[in-house]
Amino acid sequence: MASAEDAQHLSTRHLLGIKYLNEADIRLIFDTAREFKEVINRPIKKVPSLRDITIANLFFESSTRTRISFELAEKRLSADVVNFSASSSSVSKGETLLDTVNNILSMKVDMVVMRHPAPGAHHFLARHIQANIVNAGDGTHEHPTQALLDAFSMQEVLGDLRGKHIAIFGDILHSRVALSNIFCLQKLGAKVKVCGPPTLIPKYIPSLGVEVSYDLQDTLRWCDVANVLRIQLERQEELRYFPSLREYARFFGIRKDLLDQLEKPILIMHPGPINRGVELTSDVADSDHSIILQQVENGVAIRMAVLYLLSALRPPSSSG
Ligand code: CP
Repeated sequence: MASAEDAQHLSTRHLLGIKYLNEADIRLIFDTAREFKEVINRPIKKVPSLRDITIANLFFESSTRTRISFELAEKRLSADVVNFSASSSSVSKGETLLDTVNNILSMKVDMVVMRHPAPGAHHFLARHIQANIVNAGDGTHEHPTQALLDAFSMQEVLGDLRGKHIAIFGDILHSRVALSNIFCLQKLGAKVKVCGPPTLIPKYIPSLGVEVSYDLQDTLRWCDVANVLRIQLERQEELRYFPSLREYARFFGIRKDLLDQLEKPILIMHPGPINRGVELTSDVADSDHSIILQQVENGVAIRMAVLYLLSALRPPSSSG
């Protein structure tokens, strides 16, 4: 592995969203992730690439996969890591986002990985601090590393995604995974369709060049990959987008009998956490066509690649 200074460069020093990456950036991240995937499958899973770097993981919203995956990626790269969780911090005493981050940066932090409920919170930070910023999810806007690991996982199975049919099912309205997936897959030349109840599909989707379908079986027949999203009950004040979870599962839940009727097998993906029995039945989630756990595994290599490549673009005297 070349040192971060010798590596090819990304076109941006922050990962705020897939919208701001170009195709070459995405392919560079994938090439680098492929090398790191080899590293994490060795008996000694660590490289010294970021041993002089300190990274703060700031999570203002709950997370299992993303948070653990970033922390593992940072530790595999030998970075120093500090973890911050809003629920156990002075945010509950009224401290602003900028004050919180500036206080952390004054302790000589080089990179910030942040999940925040406010769409655009990372753009705000990027205007005010020097450290590299990685978006680990901003409200209902973007979740760029999820989209990168999703596309990387698809490519491992299907090869080049150009012309491949990828369908994103479910709660598009409340999802940050959907928009990042759409941007990423389109930049890699795939055709993207979304499918769900009309109330859960934003009106702007066709303006992105994405087809919309309300017909589950028709979309299953069309696609090579079904990327199934969670119904985000925590972002809905009350159940008002569909009559009941039972009815949602009946019309939009993916079941094994539906997959058995298809002429060809399709790949099943889900970013997690899964509502088993709602958007997917367990026999689909756990089937041989599901790559849900491979997605999680690839997340570590993708996040190592992102952190490694961004670290080459930090200012000479970073920290704050
Ligand atoms: N996929 C994903 O973002 O999961 P977490 O919310 O558990 O991080």
